[in-house]
Order: sequence, then structure tokens, then C-alpha cells
Amino acid sequence: MTNIQSILSQMTLEEKAALCTGASSWTTTPVERLGIPEMVVSDGPHGVRRVPDANSLMMTSLPATCFPTASCLASTWNADLLKTMGEALGEECLALNVDVLLGPGVNMKRSPLGGRNFEYFSEDPYLAGEMATSLIEGIQGKGVGTSIKHFAVNNQEFQRFSINADVDQRTLHEIYLAAFETAVKRTQPWTVMCAYNKLNGIYCSEHYDLLVDILKNKWGFEGLVVSDWGAVHDRAASLKGGLDLEMPGPQDHRVRAVVEAVRSGELDEQILNEAVRRILNIVFKAQETPKGGEFDADAHHTLARKIAAEGMVLLKNNGILPLKGQQHIAVIGRAAENAHFQGGGSSHINPTKVANPFKELQNQAGEAELSYAEGYPTDDTFRQELIDQAAALAQSADAALLYLALPSSKESEGYDRPDLDLTDQQIALIKAVARAQPNTVVILNNGAPVAMSGWIDDVAAVLEGWMMGQAGGGAIADILFGRVNPSGKLAETFPIKTADTPAHINWPGGAGTVRYGEGIFIGYRYYDAKEMPVLFPFGYGLSYTEFTYSSPKASAATFKDVDGLTVTVDVTNSGGTAGKEIVQLYVHDRKSGLVRPKKELKGFSKVELQPGETKTVSFTLDFRAFAYYHPKHQQWITEDGEFDLLIGSSSADIRHKLTATLKSTLDLPCLIDKESTIREWMADPRSNAVLSTVFEQMQTHIRQLFGTDGEGSIGMDVMDMMADMPLGSVLGFQQSMLPMPADEMIEGLLMQVHGTKN
Ligand code: BGC
Repeated sequence: MTNIQSILSQMTLEEKAALCTGASSWTTTPVERLGIPEMVVSDGPHGVRRVPDANSLMMTSLPATCFPTASCLASTWNADLLKTMGEALGEECLALNVDVLLGPGVNMKRSPLGGRNFEYFSEDPYLAGEMATSLIEGIQGKGVGTSIKHFAVNNQEFQRFSINADVDQRTLHEIYLAAFETAVKRTQPWTVMCAYNKLNGIYCSEHYDLLVDILKNKWGFEGLVVSDWGAVHDRAASLKGGLDLEMPGPQDHRVRAVVEAVRSGELDEQILNEAVRRILNIVFKAQETPKGGEFDADAHHTLARKIAAEGMVLLKNNGILPLKGQQHIAVIGRAAENAHFQGGGSSHINPTKVANPFKELQNQAGEAELSYAEGYPTDDTFRQELIDQAAALAQSADAALLYLALPSSKESEGYDRPDLDLTDQQIALIKAVARAQPNTVVILNNGAPVAMSGWIDDVAAVLEGWMMGQAGGGAIADILFGRVNPSGKLAETFPIKTADTPAHINWPGGAGTVRYGEGIFIGYRYYDAKEMPVLFPFGYGLSYTEFTYSSPKASAATFKDVDGLTVTVDVTNSGGTAGKEIVQLYVHDRKSGLVRPKKELKGFSKVELQPGETKTVSFTLDFRAFAYYHPKHQQWITEDGEFDLLIGSSSADIRHKLTATLKSTLDLPCLIDKESTIREWMADPRSNAVLSTVFEQMQTHIRQLFGTDGEGSIGMDVMDMMADMPLGSVLGFQQSMLPMPADEMIEGLLMQVHGTKN
């Protein structure tokens, strides 16, 4: 065991400052004198982007397996599979001499227009947290570190280096921090990468509340906080804010700035020491696992294919799929020949090999003849002749498979998506092909939802193939021909149109700020609340078989929040094909102090079933499954009352509803203060007890003034009107009948409630 404290005590101020800034684009600063080695980091998240020249940000990286991107991964809802993928990533890191992989990304998909959504898991923090946890467990289990990113509220590309995200505290904790919290507490990622943007006026790289108070103190994060590449603005301020390691380097002026800040007294050396301690811990931890060797590229390609097939989501099927008995199949669209399997930007992998989707179809097509037409060009031009050729080919065939990839101008890191649409050429192509061939199947290759209003009704089937990694071409063929029964479900809602989306009015902000006006209501939480139709709901996906649910049970009718609850349900494969079902459990609080969503995902399980087979699925719900974050209490709270437990096949297909009554064990402080309304005074038993006599006198007085029915002279229910006025204001209006000034009286009542001067 390396004695970190002893090394730290031998370091000069200059060496400590140098360690806190990278030595190159991808390495930390070594200190040979003390045997402190460098540490190598690489992107991330769905493959290893090991750039051979440490001083190059952009150079083509060494070959590595390009696994499916996060949209596809989350759609598997298969935590075990993600762990296996994490192990494979870990093995590749070891072979490529990488100590820390920069991922996964767990930012929320606030808007489907987010350019980088393909790198993120979900619109739901529970699902994202579970997926991230499994992936990290897999990677770190191999002795390789991770960097969960981008902390926090980095949900758009527009002005991503500087935008100020204006988010209320409840929304922050319930939606934007929750997935990080789950993964940090359960897996202790070696590093957390702070985001570029500002959060409520402060750069995340300098955000003490975020990095120190919440992440390190409340959640107990033991690793180091690394900046996103170029996210630091003021090195001393960022150290004070809890940012340990700045990347990339070298940046001598930053090192000097730290030395000077300590010398001038602006920066307490203890703060620097704490950053150095955290960095040394991780640098030496990385040394514990020997690097080198090779990884099994073929095995990882096979794994990538399996994951891709589990993540693809069958959105529509009139029965044409799985394909069977066709003599001639028209394969249309450039993406059938040039697989579109990953997104642009820092996550771009140099794949070990790439499955050709057309050839993969041929491998499984048996006797059927396959012919190809390009359908659309590489650039944005409109080429009618390509559409005409494709339609003619489709007409001559028994079925048409349309492979459509979104161009990088419509989806990439660095800029947001302009809209949810396919290109004009692609839409015209679908329509023309569908007119010529009723058995038209659309296969989408993209990282985020597309709108389909103009064409969905015209086609026989739609498969969301995502950015499905280097082996995805084989996975598509597996699903189309039924070698694999589709089992992916959407980890994000597909809206009908952009204007329907939760953040629409506030997206993407301006004048340096984006307001999170929709609050906790993102994704299905929003569409549920607005009772708004969507194209495909969260949690939705078709199978080639059917599943029935029966015998739902909750472990108790009444339970304490700290004890939680177990919910079970039997699931039967009632169709004729083996398959996997993703059973989902949502919780709904029937009555709450603050508004809550109609349902929130709190459990899921993927089960494999042979035809006729039944399995019991079990969910464990803990305190947090029922709690919400109360901004005034500044903590997660539960309230007594009934909760619905909704067991479903998707967020819109609830098969069973159970109800159980929660008893809260919390003893929360009474929040009554000078501004509390009469209704608030009466709602809390502690203030109610103090106020009740005074309240009766007030009521009598009001009845004398306005008549016994409370309405009297001014045509309104005066008591009702007053209920939401601060007690102090109501008393102020009745000053003449009070024995003392209203202010003093309130002070006295508050003293009785709180036992001290408030
Ligand atoms: C991205 C990070 C990435 C880093 C290093 C940044 O621009 O936001 O996700 O890890 O570059 O490539």
C-alpha cells in the first residue's frame, strides 16, 4: 500500500500545483522524484478512444470495439448485460494502457433536441442511475476507473461552455442529480467529470455546493473531480469549489496561478492538499492493475451484436416481421451499405471492424434474392432519381427494407438538433417506397427520437435501430429474420412533434441563461401531467410474442417508509415464441404536500420466458421510492398516505394497480414562519395547536363583520380567501380587536410553536 500522506508531505508547493493540472491531453503529471506515475485517461463512453499521441485531442484513435451508444444501451433495460459490456470495456482499457475511461454519461434527456442525447441513457433518473451503476461496476471490476459525466445539468449543446442552467432545488435533486447520486453511492466511480455549464449562476467547475457539499460531503464521494476538457476558468476558484484535476494540459500558467494563490494567502494550502490527496489516491489505485496484453476483438464484436439486438426497439409491426418466405427483398438506403453506428464528437471510436448491414442480411436471407438501391445521397441535396429507382425496385419485390440514418448535420456532439425530422429526401423516399410496396419496413439509425407523423401510417413496420455500434448490422438482420425476438423498450418518449416537448418554450435559452421552467416534469412525467398523446410512450416496445401479467401482490397493506415494500407479479409468455419482457413498476403518491408526477419509475426487471412459461418478478421498493425532495426541508421526505403501485408493460400500458399505505417515520421540523398562511398554520398539528384558539376568535370576528355565512356584504367566502393569506396580514386587518400589535402577536405565536425566537 502506497503511503499517500507520506508522499504528500514530501511534495513541494510547485509539485502539488503541477499535479492538479494535466501533463497532456490525456495524461496527468508524473513526479519522478517521488515515484508518482502518470495516469492515462481516454474517452468514452461506449468504446475506448485511445489517442496514440498524448498531445493530440482529435487524432484517430487505436482500434477498439465500438459498442452501441447509450440510447441503445438503456433501451435494453438489462443491467446484467451492461455489466458484461463494462467488463469488456475494462479489458480493452487494460490492453490499450488506459487507466480511466471517460464515461458513462448520465445527463437527463430534457429535450429530444439535445445534440448529445445519443451519449446519454434516459429521460428518467432511476433508469439512468441503474444503467450507469451496472456499467461502472463492470469497468471498475476490472481495475479500470470511470468518469461519470457531466456533473451536472449539462443537457444541451447550445452555448454548452457557458450557458447558465437556471434550475430549482427540487428539480435539481429529483431529476438532474439523482442518477449521479445512485451511481456515486453504489459504485464509487474513481472520478466524476464536472460539466462546462453554469448551474444557478456558478460554473460547475467552481461550484462548492455541487462538488463539495453535495458530491463529496453528502454522498461521500471518495474519488477525484476532473474538469470537462477546458471547463476551468479560474484555477484557484475551482480548487476552492472542489475541482481536483484540471484537464487537458499542459497549462503552465495554471500551475503558476495556484502557486501564487497559495503564496498570497488567497488559497488555503489545505485545500490544495486535499485535491492532491484525492488525485494521488486514484493515480496509485490505477497502478494496482497491470496493463498490457490483448483483448478478444471477435468476442467483443459478438457481445456488441448481442447488446445491439437487445436495445433495438420494434415500434410498429403489422405482422410483416419477422420476415418469412419472401422471394425478393428490396434493400434501400445508404445505411444498408454504410452502417451508421455511432455519433460524432469525443465519443467517436475507431472500430475493430464494422458489420455491413446488407451482407448481414444476405447471410440470413436463405433463398431470398436481395437487391440494393441507394435511396438518398450523402449530402443534403434532394435527388428525385434516387427515389424513383428505389420505388421501382420496391415494386418489383415482395418486401422493402428501408435503412435510414440521420446525417451528422442533424445529430452530433457540439450542436443541438435543428428538429426531430428525417431529411426531406428520406421522408419523400419512405412515402414513395411505401406507395410502391405495402410490405415496407423502416429501420432507423439515429440516437434520439424522430417525428413520424408524415409517414408512420404508410409503412408496415418500424424498427428503431439506434446508433447500434459496430456489430449492429448483424443485430438488425437478427431481428428482421427472427433469429432474435426484439425485447428493447424506449428509455425516452417519442413525441409527436417538437412543440409538444416539455422544454419547448424554454429551449435552448438566450442571453446566457436557460430556464428549466418545466421543473420536475420532463419526459413521461410531463406528458402524463398534460394528458398529452405521444407517438410512442416511455417504456414501450413490441415483441414477436405476448406477455400476460397476473397475481400482483404487495408485501404489506400498510408499511413504514424505512421498511419499504416488496411487490411481486407473475408474468407469462402467452405467445408462441421465446422472448424477453421488461416489467416496469411505477409509483404514484395519491396526495402530497407538493405536486408530484402521476407516475414515476421505481423498479424494472427483464425476464426471459419460453412459450407458456411463467416467472414471478419481484421488486424491492425502499424509502427513496416513495420520497420527494422538499426544497424547504432541503431533504428527501415521505408523507403519510396511500401510494398506488402501478405494474406495467410500458408507462402507458399499466396492467395492475395495487395500493398501500405509507407511515412516515420522519420527524421533520415545523416550517411555520412569519410568512406562513393560515392554511399552513392549520395543516401542521404543532402550529395548529398553538393557533386554534386565536383562529376561533378570528372566525367569530369575521362572521360579525361579514355575516354568518361568511359571504355577507362583499359577495365572497371571506374565510376561504383568507386561508391563503399570511397569518400576519390577516391579523393586521383586524388590528382594532387585538390586544397588541399584530407583529408582536405573530412573534409570540411563533415562540410557542418553535420554543425559541424565530
Ligand atoms: C466532452 C467530454 C469528453 C472530453 C474529452 C469534452 O469536450 O464534453 O465528454 O470526455 O471532451 O474528449
